Amino acid sequence: MVRCFSGIGCLMLAAVGMTARGAEPTPAQKLVASPGVLIVAHRGNSSIAPENTLPAFAKALEAKSDLVELDYHHSADGVPIVIHDDNLDRTTNAQELLGKEKVLVVDLPAGELARLDAGLWFSDKFRGTRLPTLLESLDAIQPGSTTLIERKAGDAATLIKLLERQNLLDRVVVQAFDWEFVKACRELSPSLALGALSGKPATDEQIRAAAATGADVIVWNHEKLRKPQIDFIHELGKKAWVYTIDDPRRTAEFIEAGIDGIITNKPATMIDVRSVAGRGAAPSGDSQAVGR
Ligand code: G3P
Ligand code: CA
Repeated sequence: MVRCFSGIGCLMLAAVGMTARGAEPTPAQKLVASPGVLIVAHRGNSSIAPENTLPAFAKALEAKSDLVELDYHHSADGVPIVIHDDNLDRTTNAQELLGKEKVLVVDLPAGELARLDAGLWFSDKFRGTRLPTLLESLDAIQPGSTTLIERKAGDAATLIKLLERQNLLDRVVVQAFDWEFVKACRELSPSLALGALSGKPATDEQIRAAAATGADVIVWNHEKLRKPQIDFIHELGKKAWVYTIDDPRRTAEFIEAGIDGIITNKPATMIDVRSVAGRGAAPSGDSQAVGR
């Protein structure tokens, strides 16, 4: 176990970052540790294609997103299925097809879930789009980007085994609001790049607890995070990302405040903002908004 006894020691550990756990940083660790601001396509490029589907992932790759986020739940037979909600109503035609409301993802086997339409609710143009499995999604995303896998439900061992089998353990980032899950992933894999999510008030105590999960990235609701908290996350040797920002001015403010990653439904727009702002001054607007 690596211990940090002094401020300078902590900063040195932060500088070497995740290599403290192993000799050579993995590709995912290198990406997370990179000095620029990472732009993450939330549920794929979900402003122009149905969230958490293969078309949304393809559009996120076209936009050159640094990472592509998705959410998954387990089916009744234990297959990780990519969908945000725990029930099928908002983003599929399950109600119509099954004649029942609020059927849970976990109540149907993968074969039944594969019959549902997950594109029609967004636009007729996407009729026939299916709920992808996690495996299909990884196959679609990994050749052109890095997947940010958000676990909504399912055990850590199943995910780690799947990633191991696919040779992807060192090439993806995994995050969850459930910090026990994050800790379980860390125990199973010392080198997996991990994010601890929160939408709670960003107190020092909460941030310390998030860091104590073993996560590399602390991922917070943008409405709750300000520059002092970003600085504190950095002092703890972690990266700070925020979700979910679609306003270019807000992104520019966070870049000015030192954020490391922006999760957005509009990756192309935020990549443009990043190229204008870099780590420098926000191009317009009140850059103090995140500073207070
Ligand atoms: O990536 C973070 C963000 O996706 C968390 O919120 O509800 O969109 O999964 P949610
Ligand atoms: Ca998510």
